[in-house]
Amino acid sequence: MSAKISPSRYTLTAALPYTNGPIHIGHLAGVYVPADIYARYLRIIGKDVLFVCGSDEHGVAISMKAKKEGISPKDVIDKYHGIIKQSFADFGISFDNYSRTSAPIHHETASEFFKKLYDQGDFIEETTAQLYDAEADQFLADRFVIGTCPKCGNEEAYGDQCENCGSSLNATDLIHPKSTITGSVPITKETTHWFLPLNRYEDFLRKWILEGHKNDWKPNVYGQCKSWIDGGLEPRAVTRDLDWGIPVPVKGGEGKVLYVWFDAPIGYISSTKEWAARENKDWEPYWKDENTKMVHFIGKDNIVFHCIIFPAILKAHGDYILPENVPANEFLNLEGNKLSTSKNWAVWLHEYLEEFPNMQDVLRYALTANAPETKDNDFTWKDFQARNNNELVAIFGNFVNRVVVLTNKYYDGQVPTAGNLLKVDTDTLEQLSKFPAVIESSLERYRFREASQELMNLARLGNKYLADEEPWKVIKEDEERVKTIMFVALQIATGLAVLSEPFLPFTSKKLKSILNVISNTSTTIGTSSDEMSWNDVSQKEILLSAGHQINKAELLFRKIEDKEIQTQLDKLEATKKQNEQMNKEVTPQKDTITFDDFSKLDMRVGTIVEAEKMAKAKKLLVLKVDTGLDTRTIVSGIAESFTPEEIVGKKVTVLVNLAPRALRGVESEGMILMTENTEGKLVFVNPDTSSPLSTGSEEVRNGEGIS
Ligand code: 2FM
Ligand code: ZN
Repeated sequence: MSAKISPSRYTLTAALPYTNGPIHIGHLAGVYVPADIYARYLRIIGKDVLFVCGSDEHGVAISMKAKKEGISPKDVIDKYHGIIKQSFADFGISFDNYSRTSAPIHHETASEFFKKLYDQGDFIEETTAQLYDAEADQFLADRFVIGTCPKCGNEEAYGDQCENCGSSLNATDLIHPKSTITGSVPITKETTHWFLPLNRYEDFLRKWILEGHKNDWKPNVYGQCKSWIDGGLEPRAVTRDLDWGIPVPVKGGEGKVLYVWFDAPIGYISSTKEWAARENKDWEPYWKDENTKMVHFIGKDNIVFHCIIFPAILKAHGDYILPENVPANEFLNLEGNKLSTSKNWAVWLHEYLEEFPNMQDVLRYALTANAPETKDNDFTWKDFQARNNNELVAIFGNFVNRVVVLTNKYYDGQVPTAGNLLKVDTDTLEQLSKFPAVIESSLERYRFREASQELMNLARLGNKYLADEEPWKVIKEDEERVKTIMFVALQIATGLAVLSEPFLPFTSKKLKSILNVISNTSTTIGTSSDEMSWNDVSQKEILLSAGHQINKAELLFRKIEDKEIQTQLDKLEATKKQNEQMNKEVTPQKDTITFDDFSKLDMRVGTIVEAEKMAKAKKLLVLKVDTGLDTRTIVSGIAESFTPEEIVGKKVTVLVNLAPRALRGVESEGMILMTENTEGKLVFVNPDTSSPLSTGSEEVRNGEGIS
C-alpha cells in the first residue's frame, strides 16, 4: 500500500461521535481538528478530497443516556445531533457531509453489508451463555456491564472494551461483572448471535499491518495492533439483544440489532453515499478505487475497531479499499483530570463558541500546538491564554498589523515597488519559499503540532525581519529602502494568509480580505478555487504585486484577560465541588443507642486558651482548653484545617468525660467536637453560632477521629 505515490483522491473519515452528549475539547484535539487541518491542506494543494463524518446514534451509550434522562433514545439523538452538527459547522470543521446513523441510507447500507457477509457464510451462528440482568429483564453487553478487566485489572472496564488498556473484550471476560442498569450481579442465559471469526483474518491482518505498515503507522497504533494480533484473535459477536439499533436483517434475527461497532464504521460509507446523491457524484471511487487514499482520524480507544474489525469486515465484503493510515491520537486531559461527559469535566464546544465569540481559531491553535499526538496531554486555561497572548497576538497578529498599518500609512495601502534587493531581503524571501515544504512534510507525517509551530515560525521570521530592518526609522532617511522592506514584508504576510488556512481558517479568510487577495463570496469557511496555492509560495512567485491595493488594518486576534480565564477556572471549580458533593458517601447510621447511653456523655462549652502544633505530627494540635471545671490538655487532629493562632480564644464543645488517651506521648483528656459544613470544610460545633449540625446528613467527627 505504501508504494502508492501521491494519489489525487482522498477519503478522510473522522470518528462518528456518539450523540449522548455535546462535543468537547478532547474530541476536537484527538480527532476533528487534526482531520480538518489535513482535509483543508489537501484541498489547497489541489487534491480531490472527501471528508465525511456523522453522528453515531446506536449502541448502549444512547440507550443509557435515554434511561438516565427519562426520555426516548430518539429524543436523545435528535437533541445532540443538532447541537453537535451546529457546533462543528460554527467551529469551521469542513466536512463535505455530516450524516447520522439513524438515516434510512445508513440502515440500508449496514443491513446490506450484514446480509452479504451472512450469505457468503462469513459469520458463525452460535448459541452461548451471555450475561443477563434478571431485574431489568435484559441481556447485558458493552456499556450495560462493567467489571474488572482480565488484562490490566481496571475495575471499570466495559463489556466490550477496557478504556484503560485499550483491550477489546467480551462481556463474559469481565471479572466481577455488574449491571450498570440495576447494579445487580448478572446471571447467564443462553442466546443466539452471529460472530465474525476474526481468527480467520489473522494472516491477512499480519501481512497488511505488521508487514505493510510497520514504518508509516504511528507507533501507538502499530503497537496496539501488534499486541492484538500476537495475542490471538477470537470470534466477535456482531449482533446484540437490544431494542435500539439496526434490526438484524436475517432469519432468526428478530428482536436483535446489529452491534454498534458493526454498523458505525459503515456510517462513513453511508455518509459518502448521502454526499454523492446530493452533489450528483459517484460515491464508489471514494471507497473502491485502489488509487484512493483513505485515512481514518480517531482517538486511541477506537484503534481496534478501525484497524482490526472494520478492515476484516471490508475484506470479507471484498469490494472495498483499506485505510492507508489510521493516525489515532492519545487522550487530552483537562486541568490534570480525565475529560468526562458524565462528570461534566469538559470544555464544551458549543459553550466555548458562545463564551469566546469569533475566537474559533484560538481554540484550534491551542489544541493543535498542544495536541496529544504521542502521549496524553493536558489542556489548561493558562496555556490557552498564553498561546493566544504570546503567540497569536504577540507574534502573528503583531506582525500582520505592523505590515498593514505601515503600508496604509506610507503608501495609502498600495503595495510599493521594490528597489534593489539586499541579501537580507533575498534570504528572507528564500526562507519564505521553503515554508510550504516544511509544513507539508510535517502534515504528511500527521505531525500537526510540529506543523503549527512551523507556521508560527513564519510569523517569527516576519517579525524579526521588521525588527531588524526598522522601516519606521529608515523612513526618515531612505524612503526607497522602505519600499523594498515593505514589499518583502507584504510577501510574508501573504504567505501567512495562504499557509495558515488549514490551521486558522477564519484568520486566513480575514487576512486575505485585508490583503485583498480573494474574492470569496461564499459564506462557508472553506477554500475556493481562486485562492492562491501553496505552490505560489514555494515557487517564489510574487504573491502581492506592486500597485496592488490592500485594505485597512483589522485586528486578527485580541488579548485574553486574566479575568476571562478565572471565569473558566471558577466554572471548573464549581463542577468539581458538585461532583464531590454527589460522590460524598453518606456514612451509614451507627447502631441505635438508648437515651441512657447518650446521657452518659458529658459535653461542656469550653474555651481554647492555648494551642500549638505537635512536633513531627502533621495533623495534630495540642490544645489547652478551659472547660469551666479545669484547664486540660486535649490533642486534636485538626492541624490541617486550622492554625494554632486562629483558634485561641474560640468557644468549642468539649466531651469532658472521655477516658484519657495518650497520643504520641501526650495524654489527651477529652475531645473537641467537630463537623463538616456543606462545602466539606471542617468546622467546630460552635456553641456561639447556629450549629452546622442542622444539615442532617453530616457525621459528627471527633478530633482524634481524623488524626
Ligand atoms: O468512540 C466513539 O465515540 C464512537 N462513536 C466512534 C465511532 S467511529 C466510527 F466507527 F463510526
Ligand atoms: Zn484493561
